[in-house]
Amino acid sequence: MATSTCNAMLLMVATAFALSMSSLAAGTLQYDFYKTSCPGAEAAIRKATEDLIASDPTIGAALVRLFFHDCFVRNAVIINFTTFEVDVPGCDGSILLNPSSSNPNPEKITIPLRGYDAVDKIKAAVEAVCPGIVSCADILAFASRDTAAINGGFTFAMPAGRRDGLVSVFSDVFGIPAPSMQVQQLIQSFAGKGLTVDDLVALSGAHSFGVTHCNFVTPRLYPTADPTMNADFASNLTNVCPRNGSGSRALNNNVVTDPNRLSNQFYSNVLAGKVMFTSDQTLTSSGDTLNLVKQNAANPVAWMARFAAALVKMGNIEVLTGTAGEVRKVCGATNGGN
Ligand code: HEM
Ligand SMILES: *[C@@H]1O[C@H](CO)[C@@H](O)[C@H](O)[C@H]1NC(C)=O
Ligand SMILES: *[C@@H]1O[C@H](CO)[C@@H](O)[C@H](O)[C@H]1NC(C)=O
Ligand SMILES: *[C@@H]1O[C@H](CO)[C@@H](O)[C@H](O)[C@H]1NC(C)=O
Repeated sequence: MATSTCNAMLLMVATAFALSMSSLAAGTLQYDFYKTSCPGAEAAIRKATEDLIASDPTIGAALVRLFFHDCFVRNAVIINFTTFEVDVPGCDGSILLNPSSSNPNPEKITIPLRGYDAVDKIKAAVEAVCPGIVSCADILAFASRDTAAINGGFTFAMPAGRRDGLVSVFSDVFGIPAPSMQVQQLIQSFAGKGLTVDDLVALSGAHSFGVTHCNFVTPRLYPTADPTMNADFASNLTNVCPRNGSGSRALNNNVVTDPNRLSNQFYSNVLAGKVMFTSDQTLTSSGDTLNLVKQNAANPVAWMARFAAALVKMGNIEVLTGTAGEVRKVCGATNGGN
């Protein structure tokens, strides 16, 4: 009883905060974008996402990670060891395109991600309400926002109006930060997308839920355990992820509390040395990021507001709007069949 009252209050405060902060970052997208064209869109997405999470409590994390990867792609052309970056669309549903005969190497072949079937189910639910209106790029944004409500207990408005891209190239995925990165590299990677240190630390809280695989963890375990890891935590991980194992075993990102709860527990885990990646642990190695880690660990409501605002900002990266791109009929293929 006491817990649910407390959660309800957190929710209200976080909602107010997030609304006021995120409205600053709407860009060319609009709140309530489907108000006249498809008034049932956001409710249909919410219902489908709830049903999916009810049958698989880990699937919300997969949806949030898909949104991150969709938004973060970047076209990098490497010529004679010099990297030239070319702007390509960010949050445009390009991560969802399947290989086809005319495009055998889309983004999705580069990094294995979960949740594609879930996106197809959400898309089908929305198409049943208003065919051809709601983009797959917007579905990823709304489903991520809804996951925060369902698995995290905080709500906020998500602007929309993203259009689906026609191009998806595996080499664009160079822009995704690696789990081996140090804090300065992460700051640079996020800055390249217009995201601040605050956003980096806030969004890293997504690693409070969902899963990882041994192959991302073993580089920190062998030949000797990374000394920044809590020794018991490292020793437990060596049991789960043996030195010469396949690397494909899945384990929870958060091994301390509820692994399906999107929460500020991530920051306590960082401070305790109980996080999976170098890119998580390194947030303690600069003064700015360490301060933010401590603030987020201490204040769940402030973190919720930061996470919400940063997710909205992330959802604005290089979006296609107006008549650019298209609204796909299915998320795995362009309307032209590519
Ligand atoms: C800061 C740089 C980041 C790095 C280096 C990174 C890296 C990773 C890696 C290696 C995994 C494990 C994947 C697997 O084994 O399947 C993972 C999982 C995950 N990441 Fe990140 N990530 C970063 C930022 C983010 C951001 C900004 C978000 C979203 C806001 C996010 C959301 C997630 C989620 C939810 C999972 C669990 C996915 C699942 O359950 O399938 N990550 N991340
Ligand atoms: C790149 O290397 C090739 C072959 O070594 C050379 O012909 C070319 O001029 C170089 N291009 C640039 C931009 O330096
Ligand atoms: C290690 O595993 C044991 C047994 O499952 C558990 O009780 C303990 O909390 C774990 N320690 C850490 C630091 O994860
Ligand atoms: C694991 O692999 C390493 C190098 O690939 C090898 O030296 C070692 O003997 C192997 N250990 C076991 C337990 O198989």
